[in-house]
Amino acid sequence: MFRRSFATSIFALSLALTSAHISAQQMAVDAEGHAWWQHAVFYELYPRSFADSNNDGIGDLNGITSRLDYLKDLGVDAIWITPCFPSPQVDFGYDVSDYQNIDPMYGNLQDFDRLVAEGRKRGIHIVLDFVINHTSDQHKWFLDSKSSRTSAHRDWYIWRDGKGPDLPPNNWVSTFGLSAWKFDPLTRQYYYHYFYPEQPDLNWRNPAVEQAMFDVTRFWYKRGVVGFRLDAVDSLFEDPKLTDNPVVPGTDNFGRPNMDEKYNQKLPEVHDVLRGLRKVADEYDAVLIGETYTSTIGELKQYYGERSSELQMPMDMMFATVDKLSAPDFRQQISAINSAGGWPVLLIGNHDMARSYNRYGDGVHNDAIAKLMAALYLTLRGTPILYYGEEIGMENNDPKSKEDVRDPIGKLGWPLEKGRDGERTPMQWNVSANAGFSMARPWLPVPPSAETHNVESELRDPGSVLNFYKRLLFLRHHEESLLDGEYIPLNENSPGVLCYLRRYKNEAVLVVLNMSGSLQKFDVDLAPYGLAGANRSTLLTDMTGELQTGGKEMSIEPFAVYIAKLTK
Ligand code: NOJ
Ligand code: CA
Repeated sequence: MFRRSFATSIFALSLALTSAHISAQQMAVDAEGHAWWQHAVFYELYPRSFADSNNDGIGDLNGITSRLDYLKDLGVDAIWITPCFPSPQVDFGYDVSDYQNIDPMYGNLQDFDRLVAEGRKRGIHIVLDFVINHTSDQHKWFLDSKSSRTSAHRDWYIWRDGKGPDLPPNNWVSTFGLSAWKFDPLTRQYYYHYFYPEQPDLNWRNPAVEQAMFDVTRFWYKRGVVGFRLDAVDSLFEDPKLTDNPVVPGTDNFGRPNMDEKYNQKLPEVHDVLRGLRKVADEYDAVLIGETYTSTIGELKQYYGERSSELQMPMDMMFATVDKLSAPDFRQQISAINSAGGWPVLLIGNHDMARSYNRYGDGVHNDAIAKLMAALYLTLRGTPILYYGEEIGMENNDPKSKEDVRDPIGKLGWPLEKGRDGERTPMQWNVSANAGFSMARPWLPVPPSAETHNVESELRDPGSVLNFYKRLLFLRHHEESLLDGEYIPLNENSPGVLCYLRRYKNEAVLVVLNMSGSLQKFDVDLAPYGLAGANRSTLLTDMTGELQTGGKEMSIEPFAVYIAKLTK
């Protein structure tokens, strides 16, 4: 789907001829210096829930392969598959017991190779999820580590004495509830786990851990993987003195006092590891995406690293969690990320947060709002990551009772914390049994809205959310301004309409998004941007009428999208 031929551009070719030392990384850019992933559309896919080829109720790799044509047709260039490695599935794959294999429930390495090859035929790259903070407690490294205080892998994890009888080493808590320390009676020490007790944290201060984990990435790069999404990077290091975290006002979803996690989150050493992983990635011209939960742009900036030496694609989770349909809030966040100096990475949903359809929907105009949100993150400067099902307006389907919950945090925190099952339900393909996901009962239930919101029905309906996504993604791949244009905010005081230009050379794309439930009047002054008197032609709108133009003033319908091309 990439419009440009990177390595063969005249510019890259002449560089290659003049410098024998040029790396693959430097060559893989277009004439303007953009790498493939900057023009790509990424798609996050939860393998348990995408497509079930052997009808056991759980999605699998062959299921994904069978749906590559759908993804291609949608306009997807790369898929990020959440962990599909062998795992006891306590955290549905985020507890890895072998980093160099495929869990039998998803298939095997041959199925994986076929997925890579079939993806390649269609120009779809494969990105895997690398869980670097912790392993499963069933990983052979941990089994050896816990076997004795002197075992070869003892120091691969974080073992400490308690403060006294029945007292953990300090007050750190697991983000999934309870203490972050588990006592192991065999060796009479505690081990540290920031997530579930079945997910012991690796000791990244041990060079052997670093070496082994770096080698894991090499294994997959050699198998054709183009990059990794790095899980929980904020959590890699802990204060070796185990200083207690300060308690701060309020309580969390588990009813515990809130803590400022200053001694076990975002320690500066994280950046050394990211630089190391990046060096290995550069050997293979690979891309690193980060699960970077930052609270300020300054923090996010650090994840790009000095002179882009860390993650090429740290996710802007602040954008992902604006959580209200507010033009001023989005305007502020977009300006912030555009000032960060790196390439923005934009998403509005993932497997850990309630679906955007519900978070932004008002319960009445949800389809219009889903299109509005799509038009936002697919027309901004940066690389978008879609979450599977977002393109058909899939909604959250939270468990109705505690007995139905599969995600352990939902069991522990019910009813305040219902867990993440709701956003992980099976992809809705058609109106047949189980929405065409599987002939067997799926591992999570399909919501009633699958009757109307499914791929097959929506493909037939020109006004569907899916067809709107397809048109947007087509524009995104074909309009230079949307690919490379600078972001210029317009009408910055408007409370209801988010409006901006993406300007590229002598042309621009104008994006007008009415984030309010009422008709809004607005006008734009294009003269300061050298576009006075430019021709305007509509590229995409979901308004029932054309944009009303009376003199300079225009009106846009509630929750509507208007996208136009401006040419001089
Ligand atoms: C972040 C992942 O996205 C989430 O699903 C998982 O539970 C934790 N990291 C622990 O690996
Ligand atoms: Ca299956």
